[in-house]
Amino acid sequence: MVLFVDTVAVVGAGTMGARIAELFALNGKKVVLKEIEQVPLDKGMAIIKQDLDGLVAFHEKKGDVKIRDIESNGISLTDEQKEAIRKRNRPTYTRDRADKVLAKIHPTTDYDDVSGADLVIEAVVERMDIKKAVFSDISKVVDSRTVFASNTSSLPITEMAKATDRPNRFLGMHFFNPPTTLPLVEIIPAETTEEETVMDIMNVVSELRNHRYPMMPVRVKETPGFLVNRILGAMMNEVFLCYEEKIAAPRDIDIAMKAGAGFPMGPLELADMIGLDVAAHVQETLTPFFLEREKKTATVVSELVDEGRLGKKVGRGFFEYE
Ligand SMILES: NC(=O)c1ccc[n+]([C@@H]2O[C@H](COP(=O)([O-])OP(=O)(O)OC[C@H]3O[C@@H](n4cnc5c(N)ncnc54)[C@H](O)[C@@H]3O)[C@@H](O)[C@H]2O)c1
Repeated sequence: MVLFVDTVAVVGAGTMGARIAELFALNGKKVVLKEIEQVPLDKGMAIIKQDLDGLVAFHEKKGDVKIRDIESNGISLTDEQKEAIRKRNRPTYTRDRADKVLAKIHPTTDYDDVSGADLVIEAVVERMDIKKAVFSDISKVVDSRTVFASNTSSLPITEMAKATDRPNRFLGMHFFNPPTTLPLVEIIPAETTEEETVMDIMNVVSELRNHRYPMMPVRVKETPGFLVNRILGAMMNEVFLCYEEKIAAPRDIDIAMKAGAGFPMGPLELADMIGLDVAAHVQETLTPFFLEREKKTATVVSELVDEGRLGKKVGRGFFEYE
């Protein structure tokens, strides 16, 4: 049976939970946003309201911003042309639409309100004991077919799944901060997750759109850091070593990766944006895994070279090219 998601429950209304709730409401879903107490719940709802206000303001100004962009290139537009541009860039998010999105979210501190959810996404603090307790409490009020997902960044999905009454209908749904503008969702099946649930959740995510983009689910095997943080963690370690060894000035490290490797943002600037406390935590989590990995060098590149797959220049590398 294909999962039809009418109501999503998001548990935890912090940095991530509030905007995950907003994302589903933007896409017409009914959302129950559950917090432990009223104060963080109000804070979460305030984040959503502020976000939606920003979206409405952005849409209201879209036409004028376009006009300013064109005129800043030395082109002067007639009133008629300006009007045509404003018409073409009519706001798709109006105050009325934002109010309707907000009305889709039911904030609560009561587990009973979660009972009708088809999908529960947990986004509480990064502690295994608290997450297990949350799933255990929710199991008592929801249907046995309700899918459970955790937005954890680093905790083992299989351990969490096995602690619930539905290890087959449990998976990791790792959103990126903020999910209202970053479209990636890593879908991490536990060892116990049934294929049908993975496909259902991949489909649910593919049908969503955030403020800017269609959401993009990527299936990832359970591994420390999952996909993005594992790759980024390895690279960031080299960046931090280059910094410590004074290989280049901090600004130059960022310029090099932007100008030479096509990064949209310098890695040190990125670390500052993520928060150095968060970066330190990620590093701590991944260090044992990376130390183990030190003994291992990937062999796939030389294997592909032996097969004549040299990349784009010969039409075949990791991918095939026309
Ligand atoms: N912040 C990020 O950049 C980011 C990115 C991806 C994933 N994550 C993951 O998302 C999860 C949440 O992170 P966050 O940054 O939003 O944290 P946060 O501290 O901003 O929010 C957590 C919220 O959970 C609430 N909470 C705690 N116990 C609860 C309970 N029993 N029931 C209901 N609510 C409860 C807290 O009151 C708080 O408001 C973590 O697992 C984190 O690893 C975070």
